[in-house]
Amino acid sequence: MRRNGLLIMLKLITLVGSFFFVMVLAILNGAIGNLCASGVMIFASLGVAKVIGENVVLPFGWIIALTIGCGILRGILRYFEQYSNHYIAFKLLAIIRDKIFTKLRILAPAKLESKKKGSIISLLTADIETLEVFYAHTISPIAIALISSITIIIFVSIISSIYLGLVALISYLIIGVLLPIISSKALKSTGVKYRNEFASFSAYFLDSIKGVKEIILNNSENRRKEEINKRSTKLFNNTTLIKRKSSISFGITEVLVSLSIIVSLIVGIILVNNNELTLGFMIIGVVAITSSFGPIIAISSLPSNLTQTFASGDRVLNLMEEAPQVIDVSNKNDFKYEKLDVNNLDFKYDNELILKDINLNINKGEIVGIVGESGCGKSTLLKLLLRFYESKGIKYNDIDINEINTNSLYENVTMASQTTYLFDDTILYNLKIAKEDASEEEIIEACKKASIHDFIMSLPDGYNTKVGPTLNNLSAGEKQRIGLARCFLRGSELILLDEVTSNVDAINEGIILKSLKDLKNEKTIILVSHRKSTMAIADRIYEIDKGRIIEYGR
Ligand SMILES: Nc1ncnc2c1ncn2[C@@H]1O[C@H](COP(=O)(O)OP(=O)(O)OP(=O)(O)O)[C@@H](O)[C@H]1O
Ligand SMILES: [Mg+2]
Repeated sequence: MRRNGLLIMLKLITLVGSFFFVMVLAILNGAIGNLCASGVMIFASLGVAKVIGENVVLPFGWIIALTIGCGILRGILRYFEQYSNHYIAFKLLAIIRDKIFTKLRILAPAKLESKKKGSIISLLTADIETLEVFYAHTISPIAIALISSITIIIFVSIISSIYLGLVALISYLIIGVLLPIISSKALKSTGVKYRNEFASFSAYFLDSIKGVKEIILNNSENRRKEEINKRSTKLFNNTTLIKRKSSISFGITEVLVSLSIIVSLIVGIILVNNNELTLGFMIIGVVAITSSFGPIIAISSLPSNLTQTFASGDRVLNLMEEAPQVIDVSNKNDFKYEKLDVNNLDFKYDNELILKDINLNINKGEIVGIVGESGCGKSTLLKLLLRFYESKGIKYNDIDINEINTNSLYENVTMASQTTYLFDDTILYNLKIAKEDASEEEIIEACKKASIHDFIMSLPDGYNTKVGPTLNNLSAGEKQRIGLARCFLRGSELILLDEVTSNVDAINEGIILKSLKDLKNEKTIILVSHRKSTMAIADRIYEIDKGRIIEYGR
């Protein structure tokens, strides 16, 4: 879904919520601060006007004090403006991260199983950072420019002349509205192209780093290097183009500011000549206009990053508004696993039916095997049993899975998936994920069942050894066995095991299978595997073939 800039802006502002007042404070600080900056010049010119004999009621002492006061106040207000803007921005980023995390929890696991996983990671990192620009450097500059410009126009019109006020109004409209619109149009296509190329370059580069082993083994370094060079040159040319375009826009802004000042001076001189305005008050008016372009210039430099901010905002809003595949169930039924019945289950991810008319019944204490060729839908079936996706036809204890409280489902059913994710922490921490209050004995018992205890004890730091993606210090089989230990530790009634012995050697597999067999009668196990040796412990075996399931042996 693509929204227009205004809608994105409005929606992002509504996310501000309780910070709205801090934001108003920041804007007032900024606006008054800018007016103080103009005030220094205006009071100084008031002094000049008094010197040349204008009727100024304020005594000199006051004028000097006000000039200095404005200068000091400007500094203080500027500090508070920056402070409150960044305070809001970073607080908001924390809130948005939290909202996204909560949303991901609702969307997960279906969303995180999908092919769009990579874009979520960039959303959590780059896009949210970009929003800082929006909250700290976009909303308030626009509001500040609006407030201070209107004040200056009114001030000049009253104190000096309505014609000078008009000159100010027209200048602000051209520099602060028209020019940004034109230059954002000119920059838009280049900006979008740059962003896409940047994303694709980063992805390619990251991919190359991840696959460096493959690249070396296949001797394809030069091809990769050439491609990286090509993409980097393209990116460089694009950056140059953007810089050139935005430099032109900066240049035009400066020229227009100078022109506006010259025009206001000419208008002022004409007014003085026609005796419609005295020299002193003409000077005050022209000086007020001259000193007032700061906030407007700040707006005209927005478009170069605004398109990027909007694109990021759009993606963040898209995620926030995405409807989840499944909604957690609460306040319905809790259960304690006795039996599982699957009747006439159909399932498709996109268009193609993966599972057709699946029927199976699994009683307490059974070990049931599921086989079938790669890609036939074995993992999909297990995911459905955990309600990763919505489906019809799955019943636990005769209760429809969609009527079972999600917490109760996760209490009763657990899965060791095909790939085990280990967090960057100790082995102990990674095991306790499954059961926070597990005792030492429980942990050791689970690890013994998963045939990983001896290995862990052989490590210098034992259970306190650090593991995880950044260290990547465990073999595939060791990771798998930790995943299995988690499963044992969890102690659920129904255990779904997806290829948990695929990377394990025969000796360790033997130990694991014996543990599983010992669990029989106590727990129920569904075992997915390609291995004949693994299937040997199954009471019954189902085969999935072209989406259909057949029970073919004991
Ligand atoms: N999130 C998804 N979105 C779309 N299609 C998917 C998704 N996950 C899996 N598939 C597709 O569904 C089919 C079944 O996948 P599944 O992972 O269930 O197979 P599998 O039987 O477990 O295979 P393997 O033995 O290789 O693990 C495959 O063709 C796969 O490409
Ligand atoms: Mg699978």
